[in-house]
Amino acid sequence: MADTDDSRETHQYHPEKPQKTEGFFLKGSGSLDWGMKNRLARIFNPDSGRTVMLAIDHGYFQGPTSGLERVDISIVPLIPYADTLMLTRGILRTVIPASTPKSIVLRVSGGTSILKELSNEGLAVDIEEAVRLNVCAMAVQVFVGGEHERESILNMTKMVDIGTRYGMPTLAVTAVGKDMKRDARYFRLATRICAELGAHYIKTYYVEEGFETVTASCPVPIVMAGGKKIPEFDALTMASKACQEGAAGVDMGRNIFQSDHPIAMIQAVRAVVHRNETPERAFALYEELGRKE
Ligand code: R5P
Repeated sequence: MADTDDSRETHQYHPEKPQKTEGFFLKGSGSLDWGMKNRLARIFNPDSGRTVMLAIDHGYFQGPTSGLERVDISIVPLIPYADTLMLTRGILRTVIPASTPKSIVLRVSGGTSILKELSNEGLAVDIEEAVRLNVCAMAVQVFVGGEHERESILNMTKMVDIGTRYGMPTLAVTAVGKDMKRDARYFRLATRICAELGAHYIKTYYVEEGFETVTASCPVPIVMAGGKKIPEFDALTMASKACQEGAAGVDMGRNIFQSDHPIAMIQAVRAVVHRNETPERAFALYEELGRKE
């Protein structure tokens, strides 16, 4: 009977051992609910605290951009080397094997094309769809200083409110207008606004001068956006510097899938992000693996 004084049962309660209360490894995320933390822990590796997100969502406003003409052929072989895929629901449903154990970050803002003003986005996916697709976060573009600044910021806050009801994190993606200056001052402004208004983590570009002030003044994790294709060594150097200066990893697209050796490149990026490998050693790894591709 349960209420008899059985010494063996008493022993199983381990009253001498206090229950461990786990802290949470991600900056600014300690007060989030369990589901939110669990999703973030599927995006960010709890051991390194960082992530290699593979961004392949460009088609949502650019169509079949170079390297993404056939996602089934160019991207699916890269999946084993990514921590997370960032993409649209269209590509997820049509091309990405549902058997993948990788976490998904779903692009949820959209409604524009390269033929018109890009900042005029709305919310293009609802929360039930994100839950149905079992994704780990929703990504919203935020155009601080852009023509539709207000609408894009409010798109993000709406997803933060809706996502919070479901334990679904929101990734704010800072988009910079063509004529705007990309410097630490701008990125401090843009990332801090996103964090203050509730984004759970933020994707932003690297800048040579003062990137550490961008990460320091942002109370949630920052992942570095890749940007246009540059030589592999330069891209690895940029990713390395970003991580050393406080980024919690990268969200890279073209510098991986437009590389001559994408499988080698994503592994070299992983070495920099998760193992703090130097750019020189990571580039040597890229060359060595590239010869086998
Ligand atoms: C652009 O708005 C998309 O969010 C891409 O995911 C982003 O630009 C990252 O890709 P890339 O490293 O090619 O710049």
